[in-house]
Amino acid sequence: MLPNPCTPTCSASQRGKVNETPHPTDNMSEIKLILGDCLEEMKKIPDKSIDLVLTDPPYNVGLNYCNGDKRIDYKKWCKCWFIELERICKGTIAFSCGIVNVGMWCSIKNPKWILCWWKPATMGRSIVGFNNWEPVLMYGKFIGKGGCDVVKAVIKPDKELEGHPCPKPLNWAKGFIQILSKREMGVLDPFMGSGTTGVACKELGRNFIGIEIEPKYFAIAQRRINQTMENLL
Ligand SMILES: C[S@@+](CC[C@H](N)C(=O)[O-])C[C@H]1O[C@@H](n2cnc3c(N)ncnc32)[C@H](O)[C@@H]1O
Repeated sequence: MLPNPCTPTCSASQRGKVNETPHPTDNMSEIKLILGDCLEEMKKIPDKSIDLVLTDPPYNVGLNYCNGDKRIDYKKWCKCWFIELERICKGTIAFSCGIVNVGMWCSIKNPKWILCWWKPATMGRSIVGFNNWEPVLMYGKFIGKGGCDVVKAVIKPDKELEGHPCPKPLNWAKGFIQILSKREMGVLDPFMGSGTTGVACKELGRNFIGIEIEPKYFAIAQRRINQTMENLL
């Protein structure tokens, strides 16, 4: 009998779970942090040398980043870094784009899939009332471990992250990394912010390159990733 197409293949208990078991070699992964403009820095990365890009670019919605979040050339700018990501990545390119930018991204290039970040208990506004999910667009080739396409990650206040206006929860990065990559693969985050993707990579035994333009946020990322390394020793 064919499975009922309306039945989800992951049960409610599996959905969004962060479940990779730690491995003794996880703390041997390599981490490289770069302070600079990702458009410039990515030019130095060889073709097809990255297994997964997981990132969270500015949404252009006017957040109070040090270097602003309202560009008139936003679409053109996004195309520039996306082209560079396609050059250097041999696996998946996945990024949160904000619901407001889904249309723009589909007009640049249709995603292969849209993953979901489920952020329960948030009270964002939506056209129907409340919003508690965000899309993560997926391009390129899938070479990861796989899993359910919904990642549950709760936003919690964290003193350590004070100073960055919109850090993603650690389980956001851990959830997507586990689905989209395998242990010892190389992950790039060109909009690293406070270093969430780097912390997740270190904990999960992935090699990591992170790029951040703002020294203040770069310092937070360095501190968090160093702390994670010490905790793993
Ligand atoms: C949405 S935040 C990323 C937050 C990150 N996911 C975290 O958990 O902290 C986007 C980041 O991109 C950085 N950024 C903006 N333009 C950049 C550029 N051209 N090169 C590198 N980083 C840039 C901003 O300073 C900001 O920290």
